[in-house]
Amino acid sequence: MRLTLLSLPLTVLTTLAGLLLAGCGRSDAPAGKTAREAAPVTLGFLVKQPEEPWFQLEWKFAEQAAQDLGFRLVRIGATDGEKVLAGIDSLAAAGAKGLVICTPDTRLGPAIAAKTKAAGMKLIAVDDQFVGTDGKPMTAVHYLGISAAKIGETVGQTLAAEMKKRGWTAADTGVCVASFDELATARERTDGAIRALTAAGLPERVFFRAPMRTPDIPGSFDAVTTLLTRQGAVRNWLVCGFNDNAVLGAVRALEGAGIGADRAVAVGINGTDCITELEKPRPTAFLGSMLLSAKEHGYRTCEMMFRWIRDGVEPPLETRTTGVLITRENFRQVLREQGVRE
Ligand code: GLA
Repeated sequence: MRLTLLSLPLTVLTTLAGLLLAGCGRSDAPAGKTAREAAPVTLGFLVKQPEEPWFQLEWKFAEQAAQDLGFRLVRIGATDGEKVLAGIDSLAAAGAKGLVICTPDTRLGPAIAAKTKAAGMKLIAVDDQFVGTDGKPMTAVHYLGISAAKIGETVGQTLAAEMKKRGWTAADTGVCVASFDELATARERTDGAIRALTAAGLPERVFFRAPMRTPDIPGSFDAVTTLLTRQGAVRNWLVCGFNDNAVLGAVRALEGAGIGADRAVAVGINGTDCITELEKPRPTAFLGSMLLSAKEHGYRTCEMMFRWIRDGVEPPLETRTTGVLITRENFRQVLREQGVRE
């Protein structure tokens, strides 16, 4: 005999419905469910620059994890310390059990660690590692970030190969480094690029630093514009920076000084904030970017956090992710493969 729902007694139906709802783990469980079924785990995902495509993608993948695993995600954009601390307060009030955070200031690490601990929340730092009162990385706080030095070295190797391809020499070429040294991951990236270019034979005198005051396109544009007014004699430029925006600001500053793709070549990092640049019909000096894995940073951090809370599975203290070079030739395909774009 075929079993239809109508033929089942009411109690069994209720149990079935309960099981289905528990499996979904959503907050919209009707009255009558146990507290555990009705209240899914709440996690916060706080980012320092919510307007940056990189962070929007992290959120997108975090949202995907929330859907797949059945937790509630609270997204917080916090551009300064005050907003971070207020964000943690509101998460605590909402009963959140965990926080994944890219803090706007890594020196807030000790305060963030203390506040989340007091609120009984687990903590994972993503992208930017916390710095302790002694100025050293807080290695006791779980962290997922990029292999910054190695990715920077690949940027440097790519630039060195492009220089060779164009027949430029150390006598007519300068390296513009759009740097943001107060952030460790940023410093490690540009240091990596400098190291690789040095290994490729470029002497120290051709490296020019453009220290950014703010980690965004205007910050880089201003710093590089200042550099170019001082170094007008340099014929060709290789450009590196700690992320896409640092490099895009430099490319715009070069254009402002009348230097285009024939005299400059630039490689970014992120691969997510340069898509419109790569789509421009006429190639600019922006050759390509090291595409990082926003999915690892957004989805995996949440998954680690959720399993830690629900199953007691503690994630590794440190996880490092890799990058892959995208250029005008392959970016559409690679972005599609990585689920960044349709
Ligand atoms: C830092 C940068 C971001 C991005 C991430 C990757 O937070 O500011 O643009 O590069 O690192 O981890």
